[in-house]
Amino acid sequence: MAEKFRVGIIASGRIARMHGGGWRGCDRTEIVAIADSHPEALATYASEFDVNNQYLDYREMMEKEKLDIVSVCSWNPQHAEMTIAAATYKPKAILCEKPMACSLGEAEAMMIVCERNGVKFAVGHQRRFYSSWREARRLIQDGAIGEPRRLWSAVRAGMMNTGTHCIDFQRFALGDAQAEWVMGSVERKTDHYLFGHRIEDRCCGLIGYPNNVEGVIENELPTEGGLYQLGATIYGSDGMMEIHDNSLKYMISGKAGWQVFEPTEDNRSGYGDAFTDQANAICDWIEGKIDNYPGQAEHGKAALEIMMAVYESARLHERVSLPLQTRANPLDVAVETGVIPVERPGAWDERSFLVRGEAMSWTK
Ligand SMILES: NC(=O)c1ccc[n+]([C@@H]2O[C@H](COP(=O)([O-])OP(=O)(O)OC[C@H]3O[C@@H](n4cnc5c(N)ncnc54)[C@H](O)[C@@H]3O)[C@@H](O)[C@H]2O)c1
Repeated sequence: MAEKFRVGIIASGRIARMHGGGWRGCDRTEIVAIADSHPEALATYASEFDVNNQYLDYREMMEKEKLDIVSVCSWNPQHAEMTIAAATYKPKAILCEKPMACSLGEAEAMMIVCERNGVKFAVGHQRRFYSSWREARRLIQDGAIGEPRRLWSAVRAGMMNTGTHCIDFQRFALGDAQAEWVMGSVERKTDHYLFGHRIEDRCCGLIGYPNNVEGVIENELPTEGGLYQLGATIYGSDGMMEIHDNSLKYMISGKAGWQVFEPTEDNRSGYGDAFTDQANAICDWIEGKIDNYPGQAEHGKAALEIMMAVYESARLHERVSLPLQTRANPLDVAVETGVIPVERPGAWDERSFLVRGEAMSWTK
């Protein structure tokens, strides 16, 4: 049996456990090292996943371990710094969690460094591996609901949180369509953060895809009991479909009632085992068995660009054309220049319940 790919994980929190399950479920990978700046988090993870080599400093892990694959599992503002630092050690692949970065400039820098160091770069939109998402894409490509016309996704707790999965799904369902324009609106009266970066209290974005297909991404708009989904409702000229997490149902004109798709995978990871599929696909990509890895960084960047365009449209009060020219995070710019002022001062973070101490300070 060939030697296994040596995997190192940066940050040992909740999503690192999903990555851990994925790498463990793949027979071509072995988790050889874990890094976390919080000693207790580090020790707990190491014992849970039986990892011998523990590091408080992820750069030291990169220096000493000669890793083939690196998982970047820390908070959003650290994705760029950690990915760029890891890439300079030339692992075969990096899997960075979503959202890919906090600005388009960061995302571009991450991709450039990976390319120049010959590193395959994946972003953790693992839901692309759900059988229901793949089936939805196939049905649309086969014309089952006619011409797709409108896609609608409603999320909670920040567009940059689950919204990135939903936007990624809209693009995925449309065959990885590149959006052409975005019209956005943002409400931010409180000093609101997510994983240590600014987000909106509420927002809504209309996304223009090719062929006059339009998508909606909205965050925190419905009142109690309203519809939220991790996917989208898609309306076509001859039918419709609803995708929520790993479930899919669809209705086709002329046929009675909903048809329900049964997901084909088991649920070992709690995510339809998408993390194991993700791990296997990354190995296939490294080994040259596939060229077109479904979660490549370019798709992470495309989802991020749409979210940044929602903010930029709200800042400039205009329909923003893509590709987006603004490399900074437009929400930061809007807040710092007084275009969207904080009216109820006092920073708070959607994920403050995860803060374990001084090692992870999120206040600015
Ligand atoms: N793909 C998904 O479905 C999904 C789901 C949940 C979270 N996420 C993403 O995963 C990321 C992490 O979220 P989480 O919920 O696991 O957070 P978490 O707070 O549970 O874990 C973060 C860990 O990072 C560690 N850390 C902080 N600074 C560090 C440093 N400098 N070096 C090493 N470790 C450091 C912390 O000590 C903590 O253990 C976020 O970007 C989030 O968006 C993705």
